[in-house]
Amino acid sequence: MADAPRTVLISGCSSGIGLELAVQLAHDHRHRYQVVATMRDLGKKGTLEAAAGEALGQTLTVAQLDVCSDESVAQCLSSIQGGEVDVLVNNAGVGLVGPLEGLSLAAMQNVFDTNFFGAVRLVRAVLPGMKRRRKGHIVVVSSVMGLQGVVFNEAYAASKFALEGFFESLAVQLLQFNIFITLVEPGPVVTNFEGKLLEQVSTAEFPDTDPDTLHYFRDFYLPASRELFHSVGQSPQDVAQVIVKVISSTRPPLRQQTNARYTPLIVLKTVDPSGSLYVRITHCLLFRWTRLLNLGLRCLACGCLRFRIWPR
Ligand SMILES: NC(=O)c1ccc[n+]([C@@H]2O[C@H](COP(=O)([O-])OP(=O)(O)OC[C@H]3O[C@@H](n4cnc5c(N)ncnc54)[C@H](OP(=O)(O)O)[C@@H]3O)[C@@H](O)[C@H]2O)c1
Repeated sequence: MADAPRTVLISGCSSGIGLELAVQLAHDHRHRYQVVATMRDLGKKGTLEAAAGEALGQTLTVAQLDVCSDESVAQCLSSIQGGEVDVLVNNAGVGLVGPLEGLSLAAMQNVFDTNFFGAVRLVRAVLPGMKRRRKGHIVVVSSVMGLQGVVFNEAYAASKFALEGFFESLAVQLLQFNIFITLVEPGPVVTNFEGKLLEQVSTAEFPDTDPDTLHYFRDFYLPASRELFHSVGQSPQDVAQVIVKVISSTRPPLRQQTNARYTPLIVLKTVDPSGSLYVRITHCLLFRWTRLLNLGLRCLACGCLRFRIWPR
């Protein structure tokens, strides 16, 4: 007899990576999944439903879920047939960029409430069932910014570092229950995410920020960030494809990067445990050797340097 389809719950499916992942899993007839694609605002479900096509109502259902609300999480889980989640994908996330002095604590807390506590809330809700059944897979969409800090992204990077530490710690205990954890670490991905951030910062005034810092942010960081997305940005389809492979794997890895072209940018951190090399070279590339930075990014974009990322 064929195995029953695995139920996959994904947060943040109104757009981007979550939407693409839901659609790809729902159409994966080889591995058979029942996808519960969730979003906080069901008014946005049109794009997902159109992309799902004939899978809608068959292998994909859409449900409301705000990762910042206990009530919403409880209600969503109670609506799942059998109440069992075999694979949880913590994908919902928000960004925050800008000079620290000009950002409110409330904005930074919102980043942690969504990116970190949102994932923790969902895991606490599905874990008892997974432990009882002695199987499960928890996928967390982290970021390369969960591995290395990036200038003017302090709060966002910190929320992803928090995820990395939390889930690496939990992974050890959960192996006893045959439950796997995978932290997926994309580099730049061309979704609404960056668009929303750039829209915010183009109108933001960043009160209490000195003119020098504002100049560094607007005239050095923002152009470099645009160039980075332009040169090594990945499509959400590509990232979703990597996650689909991870979910179908019998021994999923703890960490999975998605973008081979970004790998050289994190090498600096791994070759020098003191961290000085990364901080100094990144500082020079951003503020002093701008032309070299742009040339390097174009070189990475052309694909002449090949780095292997598993699984392919
Ligand atoms: N884009 C990148 O460059 C990049 C790189 C590395 C990692 N990531 C990570 O990838 C994940 C997906 O991002 P994306 O690039 O696909 O961006 P996206 O298109 O903006 O998707 C983010 C999703 O999270 C949802 N969300 C936000 N707050 C939520 C909440 N409280 N409850 C439920 N859902 C909520 C958004 O819903 P609404 O439509 O309602 O806002 C949206 O569906 C995030 O965790 C992000 O940190 C992105």
